[in-house]
Amino acid sequence: MRTIDWVDGRISLIDQTRLPDTLATLEIDDIETLIDAIRRLAVRGAPALGVAGALGVALLGKRGGDVRADAARLRAARPTAVNLAWGVDRVLAKLDEGPDATLAEALLIMNEDIRRNRELAFRGAAWLTERIGHPVNVQTHCNAGGLACVEWGTALGIVRALGETDGLGHVYVDETRPLLQGARLTAWELAQQGIPHTVVVDSAGPSVIARGLADAVVVGADRIAANGDVVNKIGTYPLALAAARAGIPFVVAAPESTVDLATPDGEHVEIEIRDPAEIVGPGKTNALNFAFDVTPADLVTAIITDERIIHGKPLG
Ligand code: MRU
Repeated sequence: MRTIDWVDGRISLIDQTRLPDTLATLEIDDIETLIDAIRRLAVRGAPALGVAGALGVALLGKRGGDVRADAARLRAARPTAVNLAWGVDRVLAKLDEGPDATLAEALLIMNEDIRRNRELAFRGAAWLTERIGHPVNVQTHCNAGGLACVEWGTALGIVRALGETDGLGHVYVDETRPLLQGARLTAWELAQQGIPHTVVVDSAGPSVIARGLADAVVVGADRIAANGDVVNKIGTYPLALAAARAGIPFVVAAPESTVDLATPDGEHVEIEIRDPAEIVGPGKTNALNFAFDVTPADLVTAIITDERIIHGKPLG
């Protein structure tokens, strides 16, 4: 089942706020509902947001009206993952060719997502197997699986590919505060695939690494800056520090659409700050709810994309 799809002229997406209890889809044919679904993380994860942006512009192209103004609001629904803006812009570039051309471009982006992530998954699995040489125990964070993409995940795509090639040991999953993308979504995906896994609280991730339980950290990314800094779900940076201390690889898996050469470094990326109520409940006390953090390039062992493996050097 695809996380996001185009069915009968509408966007059909799995409502991730209801997982793991209920597997239900939302059928969306207006832009306000799509923007709302993005903001409340019914659809989330950088590559899936790219596809949502692309299909959203295709929807706008069909409906008419001030497509560019609506597309600008869609593009800004969440600021950090570059894929959303990338998907919107790629389809907007076809607007003058008419609604059929915009839809064709959006469908191409959606179908390419599966192929590209599959490609990076097997490239990453081969790299880890060659480097580590025995079934690889992995520490991951957030959800960078099929639910964050269309079908094949990025970091969890590598885990799945390791599993298919008998190269996988155990997977440690950070619960991923505050919205529990690890405990709710990653654990659900791994269970579906029969992959052995254990959930730990976020603050235990570095200890999992320090105790030698993980051979590698494998995570996704929301944006990779030109200098190789990696922006990903809050709580990624401590894993990178722990991996460096323990001398294990810190691997980032992302499609090329997540690489943003227009942004020089992590300091220039807008980090989404979400509602304090997600942490402390409504109106109780103040909280600073950063949704993402920056892992400096020098802590990243390798970035695996659908086209290449980048080893701690400037991109380009
Ligand atoms: O807030 P989210 O759930 O959209 O954050 C998602 C992440 O941080 C993922 O790790 C990232 O988008 C990569 S998904 C392949």
